[in-house]
Amino acid sequence: MHSAVVTLAFAAAVSATPTFEQIITGVAGFSEAFQYPNFINISASGNYTGFADNIVGRLDITDTYTGSELFTEYVFGLFTTMAEKAAKNETILIGYPQNQTVVSLGIEPPMAFASSLALFNWGPIGLVPVQIDSVLRYDDNGKVTQWDGVMRRFAWTASTLEPALAASVRAELNISGTDREVLQRRAAIDICAAHTQYCTGANVQYASQNACLDTMINDKTFGEWYQIGEDSVICRYIHTGMVAYRPAVHCPHLSVSGGGMCRDRSFAVDATTQFALPMIGDNSLAALTALAGSRLVGRTGGDNSLAASTALAGSHRRRR
Ligand SMILES: *[C@@H]1O[C@H](CO)[C@@H](O)[C@H](O)[C@H]1NC(C)=O
Ligand SMILES: *[C@@H]1O[C@H](CO)[C@@H](O)[C@H](O)[C@H]1NC(C)=O
Ligand SMILES: *[C@@H]1O[C@H](CO)[C@@H](O)[C@H](O)[C@H]1NC(C)=O
Ligand SMILES: *[C@@H]1O[C@H](CO)[C@@H](O)[C@H](O)[C@H]1NC(C)=O
Ligand SMILES: *[C@@H]1O[C@H](CO)[C@@H](O)[C@H](O)[C@H]1NC(C)=O
Repeated sequence: MHSAVVTLAFAAAVSATPTFEQIITGVAGFSEAFQYPNFINISASGNYTGFADNIVGRLDITDTYTGSELFTEYVFGLFTTMAEKAAKNETILIGYPQNQTVVSLGIEPPMAFASSLALFNWGPIGLVPVQIDSVLRYDDNGKVTQWDGVMRRFAWTASTLEPALAASVRAELNISGTDREVLQRRAAIDICAAHTQYCTGANVQYASQNACLDTMINDKTFGEWYQIGEDSVICRYIHTGMVAYRPAVHCPHLSVSGGGMCRDRSFAVDATTQFALPMIGDNSLAALTALAGSRLVGRTGGDNSLAASTALAGSHRRRR
């Protein structure tokens, strides 16, 4: 049985595309790009060159994004917004990557697993370590086509910072209130100022800045730190810079409904949704298929990739 696995594994390795070199170049390039100030120019370019046009990117604390332009906005544009706010001495509720080091890495075409230990610059709070785990699938051109990212311990990190963030907001805005109340007010002011400035004409979501503030402060919850992609104020806050790039796309994300982005989510759906293509290296997939065919699921033939990934992930698959 093992010899069958080895044979399949070597067969897959012969024609590996993308190559190991393409992938390591991609990983190193992203690591360089995702640092201050490099991400600012990439954000301005609109499309990060390391992303495939049809990339599907998922970040555990937010959402799943389809297409290079949208994903570039969330990966690079969001942090550009935070860096700009910090430069104006505003308390930022989300830090931005000052620099980072790849601390874990495995590459088996077309996949890479990379974990980066970043130092996030949280403005007045200082530098905070944030580890980001990424499972990446590359296409034949060496561009990322599927990205599954986890901000390790992010909710713990942000909760730990909350008292210091709140103290900074109280000093900045000269207001009082509980930690959550002042963070919510800081976010509401940013959201509604961005709405007034960029969401005009057909993109208007609120009748006035006060109507917007009323919604953010009295109707919506600030949200937990794992709910940055839910019907929360913190979700709308991350869109404060994006409305400048593409108002028609992002202004609805500030709205009462959340425009399909800042919305209630189903845990069952999010927790079981898989990518369209297997997130498994070619050699591993061949080996796994051989195992699955002979002992795990007791079937052979048919679509090997589908059999292996179905055996692993169950049948809840979202096609995009
Ligand atoms: C960003 O672009 C500007 C204008 O092209 C350039 O002067 C600057 O050096 C670039 N910054 C970085 C970090 O690449
Ligand atoms: C990014 O790429 C997409 C697809 O190729 C294109 O439609 C869009 O205009 C590009 N965006 C920018 C800002 O260049
Ligand atoms: C990241 O930046 C901090 C603060 O400037 C510095 O102390 C640290 O050495 C840098 N780390 C890397 C890996 O560049
Ligand atoms: C930044 O804001 C804090 C708190 O509001 C204030 O104490 C500090 O002096 C400000 N720094 C600058 C450079 O304006
Ligand atoms: C801060 O707010 C208090 C109470 O509203 C007010 O008395 C005080 O003058 C304010 N301080 C500044 C610097 O605006």
